[in-house]
Amino acid sequence: MDSLEQLACWAFECDRTQLYLGDYEADEENMKMFHEALDSYARGVPVQYITGETEFMGLELQVNPSVLIPRPETEVLVERVLQLMGKEGFASPYILDLGTGSGAIAVSLTKHNPLCRIVASDISEEVLEVARANAALNGVTDRIRFILSDLFNGIDENEKFDLIISNPPYIPADHYDALPLEVKNEPRVALDGGEKGLEFYRKIIPESARRLKEGGHLVLEMGFGQSEAIKGLADDTGSFVQTEIIKDHNGINRVFFARKRK
Ligand SMILES: C[S@@+](CC[C@H](N)C(=O)[O-])C[C@H]1O[C@@H](n2cnc3c(N)ncnc32)[C@H](O)[C@@H]1O
Repeated sequence: MDSLEQLACWAFECDRTQLYLGDYEADEENMKMFHEALDSYARGVPVQYITGETEFMGLELQVNPSVLIPRPETEVLVERVLQLMGKEGFASPYILDLGTGSGAIAVSLTKHNPLCRIVASDISEEVLEVARANAALNGVTDRIRFILSDLFNGIDENEKFDLIISNPPYIPADHYDALPLEVKNEPRVALDGGEKGLEFYRKIIPESARRLKEGGHLVLEMGFGQSEAIKGLADDTGSFVQTEIIKDHNGINRVFFARKRK
């Protein structure tokens, strides 16, 4: 469905077939919703913020302008982690999801692998409210603990994880102004990755080396052209072996994997 069809179906409470067959009723309230939706869309508000929902890994998630709209690239990360969990030793892992946003990663992992337990953190309470709502919507509340935390600051130092996962903000700060209006309507705190977009990796990678169990995995989403620098940061710690880079569906290096030495 294209964006306008999505907005029409949302406002007229019908599906695409009903829309084209004229099999819907549009009263004054529906027409008002549709016109307001068109106005917002023309101002660059993403369709998902207007309808308040999106789909990720086949699951329905709620979104609002406090959270990043989960992207298809992130599904590549989730699918690879699910594969990894199918392997020996990672059947019921203890996972940290740093910067959980809508909860897309944490909710889809627990939904697809009921044995994993996750600590999902974010720097914003408003964001965590959305993530909690999505966990409830998908029936996985009992397996995710949500924590308000600036990266690792609020995470108990005595806890060690089998997997640390993050899709951190990774847009280089000097690219931010040139982003499409629609993207700039998403929260800057979810996008701006500072100098060269690497600021978060500089913090997350060395600290993950301390917070992972031996043999545990670090899994990071990354932006275009960042893989070499990220691999370099992991190599600098001297703690990681078996690094791997996975491409997204457009052939761009998108997910970085590293295993902590045993
Ligand atoms: C790129 S978004 C990813 C959201 C979600 N994990 C996803 O993949 O759709 C980055 C997230 O990191 C959060 N964030 C930004 N700075 C943070 C910090 N210092 N500590 C924890 N979370 C942070 C943002 O609020 C945002 O939710």
